[in-house]
Amino acid sequence: MAAIHIIVGSVMGTALEVAQAIQQVFHQAGHQVRVNADFRKGQLEENPEEVILICTSNTGMGDLPLNIAPFYEHLKNDYPRIAGRRYGVINLGDSSYPNFAQAGKTLDDAMADLGAKRIGEPLVLDAIYNNDPGAEARTWAEDWCQQL
Ligand SMILES: Cc1cc2nc3c(=O)[nH]c(=O)nc-3n(C[C@H](O)[C@H](O)[C@H](O)COP(=O)(O)O)c2cc1C
Repeated sequence: MAAIHIIVGSVMGTALEVAQAIQQVFHQAGHQVRVNADFRKGQLEENPEEVILICTSNTGMGDLPLNIAPFYEHLKNDYPRIAGRRYGVINLGDSSYPNFAQAGKTLDDAMADLGAKRIGEPLVLDAIYNNDPGAEARTWAEDWCQQL
């Protein structure tokens, strides 16, 4: 059993809905979960065993939603000691934008730069093709949490 900390970046609520949808999957698989749409510095250190799952949308020109910017700034400015820490990425974008899914890639790279260890391939949800992102994310999450 793992403790999973889902760090959410969302502008209009879709990524938060996805995080809440997969929370049920993780509970059913016996994992502990917290969904956090208000990341604050210090929260990564509260439980060093926690697995991090980034669940972010994209805004602007491949930019991070405002509510996940403090997480990125923490990674880039404070160099938290997360080498070896397991993490995953769910990246909600829209391929009609030139910087498709860049926000999730930016966070993935920042985690990797600190030596964190990604579990599985990121799930990229393209709003053009996914009218039920929660359903696709649940399927992905079932597989992902078995790799923990
Ligand atoms: C103003 C605006 C800018 C966006 N910019 C991008 C972008 O640069 N790249 C991308 O892949 N998706 C972009 N998107 C698409 C959103 O990331 C996508 O619709 C996502 O599902 C929204 O999730 P949310 O409701 O959690 O914010 C943009 C959407 C809006 C409304």
